[in-house]
Amino acid sequence: MKKIVYTLVAIIIVQNIGMAQQKEKKYSKEEITIKVEALLKKMTIEEKVGQMNQYNGFWDVTGPVPEEGNAEKKYEHLRKGWVGSMLTVRGAKEVRAVQKIVTEESRLGIPLIIGFDVIHGYKTLSPIPLAEAASWDLEAIKKSAEVAAAEASASGINWTFGPMVDIARDARWGRVMEGAGEDPFLGSRVAEARVKGFQGENLAAVNTIAACAKHFAAYGFAESGKEYNTADIGTSTLHNIVLPPFKAAVDAGVKTLMNSFNELNGVPVTGSSYLQRDILKGKWGFKGFVISDWASINELIYWGHAKDKREAAKIASIAGSDMDMEGHVYIQELAQLVKDGVVKESILDDAVRRILTVKYELGLFDNPYKYCDEKLEKETIGNPKHHEAVLDVAKKSIVLLKNDTQLLPLKKEGQKIALIGALAADKNSPLGSWRIASDDHTAISVLEGLQAYKGNSLVYKKGADVSVGKTAFTQEVAINETDKSGFEEAKLAAKDADVVIMVLGEHGFQSGEGRSRTNLQLPGVQQELLEEVYKVNPNIVLVLNNGRPLAISWANEHIPTILEAWQLGTQTGNAVAQVIYGDYNPSGKLPMSFPRNVGQVPIYYNHKSTGRNNKEAHVFWSHYIDVEKTPLYPFGHGLSYTTFEYSDLKLDKSLYSIGEDVHVSLKIKNTGNVKGKEVVQLYIRDLFGSVTRPVKELKGFELTELEPGETKTIQFVLNKETLGFYNNSEEYIVEPGDFKVFVGGSSYTKLEADFTLKE
Ligand code: NOJ
Repeated sequence: MKKIVYTLVAIIIVQNIGMAQQKEKKYSKEEITIKVEALLKKMTIEEKVGQMNQYNGFWDVTGPVPEEGNAEKKYEHLRKGWVGSMLTVRGAKEVRAVQKIVTEESRLGIPLIIGFDVIHGYKTLSPIPLAEAASWDLEAIKKSAEVAAAEASASGINWTFGPMVDIARDARWGRVMEGAGEDPFLGSRVAEARVKGFQGENLAAVNTIAACAKHFAAYGFAESGKEYNTADIGTSTLHNIVLPPFKAAVDAGVKTLMNSFNELNGVPVTGSSYLQRDILKGKWGFKGFVISDWASINELIYWGHAKDKREAAKIASIAGSDMDMEGHVYIQELAQLVKDGVVKESILDDAVRRILTVKYELGLFDNPYKYCDEKLEKETIGNPKHHEAVLDVAKKSIVLLKNDTQLLPLKKEGQKIALIGALAADKNSPLGSWRIASDDHTAISVLEGLQAYKGNSLVYKKGADVSVGKTAFTQEVAINETDKSGFEEAKLAAKDADVVIMVLGEHGFQSGEGRSRTNLQLPGVQQELLEEVYKVNPNIVLVLNNGRPLAISWANEHIPTILEAWQLGTQTGNAVAQVIYGDYNPSGKLPMSFPRNVGQVPIYYNHKSTGRNNKEAHVFWSHYIDVEKTPLYPFGHGLSYTTFEYSDLKLDKSLYSIGEDVHVSLKIKNTGNVKGKEVVQLYIRDLFGSVTRPVKELKGFELTELEPGETKTIQFVLNKETLGFYNNSEEYIVEPGDFKVFVGGSSYTKLEADFTLKE
């Protein structure tokens, strides 16, 4: 009977293909609950476990392929209704094919939810997420997620494994490129923007997808920046630094969370009831579902936490991991565990309810093929409007690190420009890591971007390769450590130029998952190339490409102008050229501190004071004897082609009762000659705490644009949500005492005011 119903549905849908914006039905919570409960009653234990089972598709892999991962078996399970979700199946046609199997051949015909790593775009790519966070422009970030959702959903995807909201302080960790940097306040705002961008107002709309806040939790605190490593952190760091962006995502309505590969304080988090049941589903009341990371349930065995798959399935399911990503553990073990009375069926019911609810919300039960419209797919993917949006956020993501001699913006005429560096002509690397659905070599290169400006003469010389060999998604990138044969012609071109633009940095595949590094300098022979070119012409604009903060002390000391251009996605070259020529005045600010050398990491602005912070104490103070203890460029740093002056920092009072709002105002003036945008940042310091507080904490920011000579008044409100913290009993408290407020254009700002909170 079921099969007949679905066949009819399928026929009706086929007739409707092309009516892209169908009226989307949005069910109330109560309606969905009734439907879910009715369906749950019909399900066997095996079918319930099936909903908790996610298989990878048949082409792309984003993790180690398990022995059990053969296609034949997966098809068999799809037909039996033993698969609730698939990942990395893409394309309207391909998704239709798998949906057809489950909906027409399985007993209950429950549609799949199709997941995919839509990390910074689908086909049309935005900047890598770390770069985007440097824009501090929440509207642009949200828009970028909307574009990603539109393209992915048109290609059959229902659910992205993003945003990654892991706070990270260690640039050695390759996945810093996927997050929003080191700060929980900025990280939380970016998390909300991304969740709202992906999910929109109505999950059932054809251009929205479910989001997934990952990786829950503390993955970004992997010891020594080494991938998949142990995280060992205390209560205060967990609750005040790591968890806030997850909470923000939950409050923004995120439908799913993914747990992580790391252990936290001795418990692999996939098996952590504390994180998943007590905090997430308990304290925070999260109603969506949790997916494991790729085979992370199996990894409970390798961590030495579960003795075999059966125990791993038991621990993970009881702990609240609702879906098993390509681990094959739930499907093999869970039904028997329930039959043996080891795992209660109510655990399955809870997980399945959560999963089915999201499927209903997506509208998959109304129409399992609603995201499989090939015409819409064609119209949507690569739409010019999407290019506009990713160019917009790409420009905004660029950070001007220094501009000592005002080499930038470049004059548009009469200049001889030498452009040097293999990355300048690279159309692949700027796409960055994590872009499975996009086509290789489709970025606008910096060379192409600059060529669009015809007024200057432009000579391009590679100088040296950055990478050698293949750079496919799953392959390591091999770095050129020896070949300097292009140095001479690069130097000749530089010698003859008015201005040299050097595009140097990491290859796009040197960051991302599984790409931790212990060296944060320019890879390969690029540092040497920079120094050699500098000898013949120091008039250099260094354009950095990188997926993480780099240690570029030499460049900072010698090179007059440095532009942080990350990996900016499809529109990289146009964005960089517009900034270089001043058609966009840079406004980005660093979301992560840049170290002076790798020995300083982890380095972050919101550190504690230490008991020995006083230079007067001879050698006996908290510092290094071989390098300054400060970062090279602090969190929040970023210059403009104009200058801003901050003044008149005022509070409405100096003494407040706890619970009262603190009103802060300040003036900002554009003191330069061109229009510019500035991210006005507000930090606090709670001077004395029962749990010590950081020397500065970001608690507000506002992006403002000013004409030359214009002054604006900016206002912020601090309240109990921003003035308190979690103590070591995991209680959120606001303590009476003295506070400082700082405002300015970076975390180094010195403009401050004081106030006191009383009981
Ligand atoms: C492993 C990664 O850690 C996770 O972020 C990603 O979503 C999955 N693989 C699926 O590709």
